[in-house]
Amino acid sequence: MKLENILTVVTATLFLSIIPIQGAMAASAKDNYRTYCAQCHGLQGNGQGINVKDMSVQPRNHTDTVYMSSRSDQDLFTADKKGGLAINKSVLMPPWGDTLNNQEIHAMVQYLRKLCHCQEGKQ
Ligand code: HEC
Repeated sequence: MKLENILTVVTATLFLSIIPIQGAMAASAKDNYRTYCAQCHGLQGNGQGINVKDMSVQPRNHTDTVYMSSRSDQDLFTADKKGGLAINKSVLMPPWGDTLNNQEIHAMVQYLRKLCHCQEGKQ
């Protein structure tokens, strides 16, 4: 094999082996939502996940622009990190601080803002 060809193969092999490592390190907020939140909040974030029929307190509809704009980013962050109880809501909203780091939770708050098409205090 010519040196050029060998280099091409080596480069391609390195490239292919790097992609999965990066994928594993940085899951997007959307991926995390689908993995950890959708069973209650629904894949579309409308509060209609598969668990809802058995729940005494229904999960928040994250696409509700009016309600979600009334919540601060800090409320959403605290609910996500420490669970419903931390913001005087239902214990059925679990804490995610052991699963997601602060950076991922900040990204999740941004994703929730995308779902509601709203900002803190603004519809
Ligand atoms: C086991 C079901 C369940 C899962 C899983 C779940 N939630 Fe919830 N969540 C709830 C329930 C129930 C409420 C409503 C609590 C209430 O209104 O008292 C809620 C409420 C919320 C709220 C609203 C807080 C507010 O200000 O009203 C946010 C934000 C939230 N969840 C984010 C998430 C995120 C992000 C995830 C995934 C990382 C997630 N939830 C996973 C059940 C769940």
